[in-house]
Amino acid sequence: MNELDQLVAAAQADFDTAHTPAELENAKARFLGRAGRVTELLKTLGALPVEQKKARGAEINQAKAGIESALQARREALARAELDAQLRAEALDVTLPGRGRGTGGMHPVSRTIERIEAIFASMGFDVAEGPEIETDWMSFTALNNPENHPARSMQDTFYVDMQDAQGRWLNLRPHTSPMQVRYAKAHAAKYAGVHPMPELRVLAPGRVYRVDSDATHSPMFHQCEGLWIGENISFKDLKVVFSDFIGRFFETDDFDVRFRPSFFPFTEPSAEIDIRFGSGPLAGRWLEVAGSGQVHPSVVRNYDLDPETCIGFAFGMGADRLAMLRYGIDDLRLMFDGDLRFLRQFN
Ligand code: DAH
Repeated sequence: MNELDQLVAAAQADFDTAHTPAELENAKARFLGRAGRVTELLKTLGALPVEQKKARGAEINQAKAGIESALQARREALARAELDAQLRAEALDVTLPGRGRGTGGMHPVSRTIERIEAIFASMGFDVAEGPEIETDWMSFTALNNPENHPARSMQDTFYVDMQDAQGRWLNLRPHTSPMQVRYAKAHAAKYAGVHPMPELRVLAPGRVYRVDSDATHSPMFHQCEGLWIGENISFKDLKVVFSDFIGRFFETDDFDVRFRPSFFPFTEPSAEIDIRFGSGPLAGRWLEVAGSGQVHPSVVRNYDLDPETCIGFAFGMGADRLAMLRYGIDDLRLMFDGDLRFLRQFN
């Protein structure tokens, strides 16, 4: 091997150790660059006698061509390797199993509300929903709340940064009771002038909001409001309807119902409804499940009905609480955390 063949071999070996385009460019400079070994050789031509110049020049150029083709071959090899690596990285394995969709399920509170609706619907109650952002009149005034009633104060009720026509802040309804007023007003308008007016029976389920948060209170929870107004509907009817509901909701006959005197501005008299099971995990304890009462005459007037001829009862119960009692859940927050391990148990 003459010195030019050795130079080509050295270039080839140098190029082969380059593993990136940048390394290869450095190796190229060592041979073909301005201070590279081939350039240095070409510079020696100047000192040769004319008759040797041509032959020596041709030899050096041949070696240079050999180095350039080795460089090109290595460039292509590196580009191929890079492409291969990229293809491997982006490979799609068509033999992997699909991800599937999973099946959705119903939330325990939705399930409970549907159950409550079905039971009341079977007793002739209409089911109605209404707005969650309410006016002050609907949430409080129409329900006979005095101006200074604590329920109106900021610490219980969320207010919305919007005002009604009277300049009063709108609220996130703190209970479903405004639906009594909305539904009864529509009923009164629909049957204006009809005597006797058909009875009104409605169940109004929905979300309600209060500034409150711990194991048994959530800033958003669910209530079901009930209202039955007719010519002669009394507390006795409330007791029958509610007891029937409890038996069917909990699927048992083994319970007592107690009406405990209480106060609500929109009812007179008012009562908390407690239940006590005779057997099962909750046996023996009185459990408060609803507020109720005979609708106050001022409220009946706000329905646009005549309290002389229209009388009846209303009740309001926490749907989340009923779900917790039925399923034996002790922390309300579980209901709203969205943890699938919890939620899957109900489907
Ligand atoms: N609105 C009451 C509350 O949120 C519950 C209630 C009590 C509703 C008595 C009624 C009722 O309709 O008659 O605590």
